[in-house]
Amino acid sequence: MKHKNILLVLLLLPLMAMAEEIKSPNGNIVLNFTLEQGRPTYTLLYKGKEVVRPSHLGLELAKDKHASLGLDEDDLMEGFQVVDTKTSEFNETWKPVWGESSTIQNHYNELAVTLVRHFNKPKYTGDGMSPGTFLQDYERRIIIRFRVYDDGIGFRYEFPQQKDLNYFLIKEEHSEFAMTGDHTAWWLPGDYDTQEQETQETKLSEIRGRMNKAVNWGNSSVAVFSPTGVQTSLQMKTADGLYINIHEAACADYATMHLELVDAETKALTTKLNGNSNVYTPNPKPSPYPLPQPFTFVSHLTPDATGLKGAMQTPCETPWRTVMVSDDARDMLSSNLILNLNEPCKLEDTSWIHPTKYCGVWWEMIVGRGSWHYTNDYPSIKLDQIDWQKVKPNGTHKANNKNVKRYIDFAAKNGLDQVLVEGWNVGWEDWANMWKRDVFDFQTPYPDFDIKMLNDYAHSKGIKLLMHHETSSSTQNYERHMEAAFNLMNKYGYDAVKTGYVGDIIPRGDHHYSQSMNNHYLHVVKEAAKHHIMVNAHEATRPTGLCRTYPNLVGNESARGTEYEAFGGSRPDHTCILPFTRLQGGPMDYTPGIFVTKLSEWSNNTSWARITIAGSLALYLTMYSPLQMAADLPENYEKFDDAFQFIRDVACDWDQSIYLEAEPADYITVARKAKGTPNWFIGGKCDENGHKTNIKLDFLEKGRKYNCTIYADAPNAHYETNPQAYVITKRVVKHGDTLKLQEAPGGGFAVSLIAQ
Ligand code: NOJ
Ligand code: CA
Repeated sequence: MKHKNILLVLLLLPLMAMAEEIKSPNGNIVLNFTLEQGRPTYTLLYKGKEVVRPSHLGLELAKDKHASLGLDEDDLMEGFQVVDTKTSEFNETWKPVWGESSTIQNHYNELAVTLVRHFNKPKYTGDGMSPGTFLQDYERRIIIRFRVYDDGIGFRYEFPQQKDLNYFLIKEEHSEFAMTGDHTAWWLPGDYDTQEQETQETKLSEIRGRMNKAVNWGNSSVAVFSPTGVQTSLQMKTADGLYINIHEAACADYATMHLELVDAETKALTTKLNGNSNVYTPNPKPSPYPLPQPFTFVSHLTPDATGLKGAMQTPCETPWRTVMVSDDARDMLSSNLILNLNEPCKLEDTSWIHPTKYCGVWWEMIVGRGSWHYTNDYPSIKLDQIDWQKVKPNGTHKANNKNVKRYIDFAAKNGLDQVLVEGWNVGWEDWANMWKRDVFDFQTPYPDFDIKMLNDYAHSKGIKLLMHHETSSSTQNYERHMEAAFNLMNKYGYDAVKTGYVGDIIPRGDHHYSQSMNNHYLHVVKEAAKHHIMVNAHEATRPTGLCRTYPNLVGNESARGTEYEAFGGSRPDHTCILPFTRLQGGPMDYTPGIFVTKLSEWSNNTSWARITIAGSLALYLTMYSPLQMAADLPENYEKFDDAFQFIRDVACDWDQSIYLEAEPADYITVARKAKGTPNWFIGGKCDENGHKTNIKLDFLEKGRKYNCTIYADAPNAHYETNPQAYVITKRVVKHGDTLKLQEAPGGGFAVSLIAQ
């Protein structure tokens, strides 16, 4: 060791042994940071109880083929010294453009630890012909920043610009979350390409045994990577009643994080996908670092086509890794931790962004009574070689002038804002899973879709059409056509687009949740903003609160949505889990509102939705989104027009939201005050067991009367045997009154409270 280094170590010795403690503003959460033999290590306590046991932090770097360094010392895992710590407090209130409340408090205490690692390694100084190496002192400098809130923590790694570390490739991030026991978890199989599975509820120790069954093998793009890999947001509950949620915030220019559980059988951590993207790796490449204790989750990033997980250029940082904790399940739902950890809004003018209720030419195709494509006569389509005017129509194409007008009329009559039309543009004949690069141009309508006439017709009735860009995951094709496609939208007056990423990513080998794809999704959102276009991306990566920074990202699917009710159905508790998991990072375009749940009543599809009509109404409250669809067919709503009144009335932007009751996978009850009005709406949704509730109306304004309409399950309602049995009652209520309600199995209720 050089003299300079010895001196440095001596100077830093007192710092190296130091442990830092930082508390949340109300003191309930305590985070400890220390170096354990040079490895950054943290613990987390909630009200004195251990939540996260000592857990290491660090990153393994890939060897840079250009530098030919060939040494493992590049890793940012161990050998660190603390050279600086800074603590600070932050407290501000900000106003989201849309949201569950009109103001949000962002109050935390922060600890920023600067870590440095010194080592000698050969530096190549030759001219490519001679050996020319000598030993040189290298320095690696990172900052780990912790923010401690009353409802959880966030931490991230920051990489300042520095002499010896400016461009690097990430092999794996090793952020650990060591749990204190065999908690109950609500989890999805870790997958690089899809999150359209049903949630599993098991003990941590049961994840491995359940994995194969949990995978949605039928999805059009599947890449599971480990028998104990799970997705975030991961909701857990401890035996003594603590709710813990692990997720991430502000995932930009970085790969989406999964979690890999170390259990009793774990031999080595998976670090690399093994070729075949449809099979999880039975023989993972071992990590050189010691295996953590059982019940520890370790971060596992999504690789790109090279198998590596990130290409970084300083100054840069990782997303925030978040751990929320409370002894009250409602705090998991009301938390703003993820939004708060995102950057403030970067769009100067947001006046064109608005919450939207819409219907669409959609459900009848998903269910199978019509088609997106226009002709059945071409086994393969080359977009530049077809004269569409000469093509024989198949008679099942639903995006036709007559049908679209029917939906526009329905929207206008019922106070909806927009009509989504899928299948309007050429290319649907061979769009999916063909590895077809030039699949759509997003500009040429089919001959029976008169884009000018239909937009003019819609506008004359105060309605807008909602654009659809299914990319078929051919991302470069979309990027090539995007500017022209957005110009077309501007020309005809569209201000919102639903995008889609069905199938494996083209260029081949990449994954839906890689750094490069996350950059693509954000690029689309930023370009759309320049055109004043709102984005609702399906099959894109799971949200991490970026909608705070870019509020034109008004929705994502990124989970198992209502479409699955036509593909075999989802369990009745599905929507009592999603708010705890998927919705943590941002709103979901769940497309609720199915009234005729037995699809065979109007189609050849034998699938059915496991929900009652009152339960369907509840989803407009319990599944928060500024973009809400009324997904069923106009003719189905016309049969239940008195229940549809709730969808006409319900708001989708709020001044205030109060979670009245919640338990993951059992029930959720929420009251929300419509933005800029004195009116309240309440929704309650339950699982297959039904639920009894007493709602004290102590949030209503004192001295004011409200016209209260209750849409409840009838006493004999049941999601399977009697889903359409509901009772609507009206009364006048005031502050302090109580509503007693009984939710049927798979049911729920909805209440509107309109101030007199
Ligand atoms: C999957 C989307 O989730 C669905 O809503 C859409 O209709 C199809 N892809 C076709 O783009
Ligand atoms: Ca989907």
